[in-house]
Amino acid sequence: MHLNAAFLVTLLLSSATLAGAKSPCNPCTSKPPAFILAGDSTTAVQSAGGGGWGNGFLSFLEAPPAWGVNKGHNGATTVSFVKGGDWANVTRLIDEKNAEGFQVWVTVQFGHNDQCHQKPDKNISLAQYTTNLISLTRSIRRHSAHPILLTPLTRRSFPADSPHNLTDTLQNERLATIAAAASSSNNNTTETTTLLDLNAASLKYVNRIGSDAAHAYDLKEGDNTHLNDWGSVVFGRLVADLLLATEAGECLGPWIRRNETLSQAIRDGAPA
Ligand SMILES: *[C@@H]1O[C@H](CO)[C@@H](O)[C@H](O)[C@H]1NC(C)=O
Ligand SMILES: *[C@@H]1O[C@H](CO)[C@@H](O)[C@H](O)[C@H]1NC(C)=O
Ligand SMILES: *[C@@H]1O[C@H](CO)[C@@H](O)[C@H](O)[C@H]1NC(C)=O
Ligand SMILES: *[C@@H]1O[C@H](CO)[C@@H](O)[C@H](O)[C@H]1NC(C)=O
Ligand SMILES: *[C@@H]1O[C@H](CO)[C@@H](O)[C@H](O)[C@H]1NC(C)=O
Ligand SMILES: *[C@@H]1O[C@H](CO)[C@@H](O)[C@H](O)[C@H]1NC(C)=O
Repeated sequence: MHLNAAFLVTLLLSSATLAGAKSPCNPCTSKPPAFILAGDSTTAVQSAGGGGWGNGFLSFLEAPPAWGVNKGHNGATTVSFVKGGDWANVTRLIDEKNAEGFQVWVTVQFGHNDQCHQKPDKNISLAQYTTNLISLTRSIRRHSAHPILLTPLTRRSFPADSPHNLTDTLQNERLATIAAAASSSNNNTTETTTLLDLNAASLKYVNRIGSDAAHAYDLKEGDNTHLNDWGSVVFGRLVADLLLATEAGECLGPWIRRNETLSQAIRDGAPA
């Protein structure tokens, strides 16, 4: 058997990659990514009843050839998103985009409506929220796509006398999401679930810029939860930068446009 040198080098490189750190896309593929964003109103398209970081994030894709869609649903929980048929639509889209030759990524961000102490009528415990997130990541993998879990975007609610120390209401959901990402990593194929700690990053940024600057991103006056168009771009940039800093980001880099001015402002804790 004759093996040429180039083939041997390729073989050595790929086994080195496989033996290396866990990666969600190991080795990188040349397929462009398709992003499907699943979540509640803090991901959703800007409308009268909601608006999140989703469309701002998608605005940074090199599309085409990359592709993305915002499937955030106002008021959704990890339960209603499945029961109401949104998840079936997400998995159908995954199959379509895989068939079209994309590498498919699904972001999953819930928590605002799953919270038992804020929304007792939904009757979703923290344990159930965690289990539901794990089950969504399994579904994503069964459909040959890559899960990205995000901890929930912070609310921008400040006590009157405390413009740099907001009232944090989502810490339990943040920790539950982190736990779900860890336990949903696929130990057999060494594929990790990509985790973006959006809650911590958005909380830190909003505390640094302070209450007045933070409210410039409100969908409308008095709405501390949802984002207007510019807020979507700013927090969409934050999500893009968190993603680019992960192992998955090393593969996704070519498909996500940079804006250093905006990224720098976020890093510096300056109003953007
Ligand atoms: C699922 O997709 C169908 C077909 O596009 C649409 O009619 C339906 O409203 C969607 N369901 C949800 C819950 O968004
Ligand atoms: C809340 O959920 C628990 C566990 O699923 C169930 O046993 C209980 O009956 C539910 N309570 C209400 C008020 O729906
Ligand atoms: C922010 O507020 C919380 C709750 O009131 C308090 O426990 C914490 O010490 C404050 N942090 C700072 C940095 O002031
Ligand atoms: C993977 O391993 C981690 C750490 O050992 C464990 O907590 C988790 O439950 C495992 N996940 C699966 C899907 O088996
Ligand atoms: C991992 O592999 C073992 C043995 O092949 C199998 O029993 C187990 O179900 C697999 N776990 C996952 C999470 O795929
Ligand atoms: C980058 O972001 C800045 C705000 O920080 C904005 O003014 C500018 O238009 C953006 N540049 C591009 C090319 O989108």
